[in-house]
Amino acid sequence: MGFEILEKQLRQRIGAGGEISAVRVPLRACPLGAHVDHQLGEVTGLALNHGVDLRFKPRDTPTVTLESVGFSGVIEVDLRRVGEPHGDWGDYLWAVAAEMGEIFDLHRGFDGVMKGDLAGMGVSSSAAIMVAYCLALAEVNQIELNRSKIARLVQRAENRHIGVASGLLDQSVILFAEAGSLTHIDCRDFSVSQIVAGEALPDFRIVVAFSGMARQLSNTDYNHRVGECREAAATLLRRAGVESGPKPVLSDVAPELFEQEGRRLPENLRRRAAHYFGEIARVHDGVEAWRRGDLGAFGALMTASGESSIINYQCGTPPLVALFETVRDAPGVFGTRFSGAGFGGSCLALVEAEAADDVAEKIFRDYTAAFPDLAAHARSAICRPAGPAAVKNAGEFS
Ligand code: GLA
Repeated sequence: MGFEILEKQLRQRIGAGGEISAVRVPLRACPLGAHVDHQLGEVTGLALNHGVDLRFKPRDTPTVTLESVGFSGVIEVDLRRVGEPHGDWGDYLWAVAAEMGEIFDLHRGFDGVMKGDLAGMGVSSSAAIMVAYCLALAEVNQIELNRSKIARLVQRAENRHIGVASGLLDQSVILFAEAGSLTHIDCRDFSVSQIVAGEALPDFRIVVAFSGMARQLSNTDYNHRVGECREAAATLLRRAGVESGPKPVLSDVAPELFEQEGRRLPENLRRRAAHYFGEIARVHDGVEAWRRGDLGAFGALMTASGESSIINYQCGTPPLVALFETVRDAPGVFGTRFSGAGFGGSCLALVEAEAADDVAEKIFRDYTAAFPDLAAHARSAICRPAGPAAVKNAGEFS
C-alpha cells in the first residue's frame, strides 16, 4: 500500500526524529443484512484487504495536523476548540474529535499522514477513516476503549456531526471482522459472533465493482429511508396497541404482526418493512449456509437481497441496477448485491477464486460498453477477507 511514502511524507513535514505509529483499518463488505442495522436488526460482514492507513507521531499539544495522499492541504484541528465541520475532507476528523472531546480530555494530538484505498466506492471508507482517527486519538491520550465503545462512538460522530442516521454495521465489521470467518452482529444487543465454515468453504474472492458514481450518504435518500422504516414500525406497533418508545424501530415489531397488518400500511412503508423482514430471514438462512460452506446458497441469498433493495427498499440508480444485473449474470459469481447503501457506489460479489480475474474484466467491459460516460471512473477491485483494525508501531506492519 506504499507505506514508505506515507512515512517519508510525514518525516518531510515534521522532521526525522522520533517513533512513528500506524493504524491500519480495513474496509468492509456486508454480504447480507442491507439496511437493517439502523433498525437494530442483524447483519453479516467481512473485512477487506484494502483500507485506510494512518501514520502518526504524537504531539505534546492538543493539536492534530493531518495530510492525505489524494486530497490537498494540511488539516489542523485544535482539540480543545473543535467547532463545526468545514465541508471538506477534514470533516471526519472534526467529527471524531468533537465526539471524543465531549467525553475525554484530549490533551495530546498528533501529526499524521493518511491514505485510503477505494475511497468513495461504497465500501465504508468514511467509517474506516473515522475509526482510524479514533484509534490514534485514543492511543496518544492513553484512553482505554474497547471495540464496542469505539464502534458506538464513531457511529455517534457520524450521526451527530456528519448528519447520516447510519447504524453500527460499518464500524463494527471494521473492528470485529476476522479473516477466516463471517462476522455476525446483532445490532440490538451488540452481540458479535464469528461464523466458521472451516475447510468446507470454497476458495472465493470479493469483487467490488464500482459504478463510477461516488456518493456521500448525507446527500442521498438514506436518512429519508431510515425515517420511513421508523414510521412503518410506529404504525404497526400503534395498530397492535403495543406501547413503544420515542423512536421505534422495525426490530421492535414481531414478524407475525407485519404478516397480519403489513398489507394495510401505505405502499412505501409496506415495502420498507417487507425489505426488513425479508432481509432478517436471509441473514438467518445465510449464516446457516455459510456454516455449511454452501456459498451457492449464500450467494443466492445475496442476490435476493440485492433484488429486495431495488424493489422494496427502492435504492439503486439506473447504472447501478444495470451493473447489478451484469454482475449477477457473470459466470463464477455466487451472488451479488449493492455494497453499502446502494444510492451510488458499487456492487459487491462473492466469486469463485479462479474466476475472479475474468469476472472483474467481463463486468468492466460490459458495463462500460453500456455506460461509456462512466467509464473513466468505473473500476473493479478483487479483494480477499482480512482481519480487523489495528494500531501498531509503524515497523510492525509489513
Ligand atoms: C451504509 C451505512 C450503514 C448501513 C448500510 C446499509 O453503509 O453506513 O450503517 O445502513 O449503508 O446496509
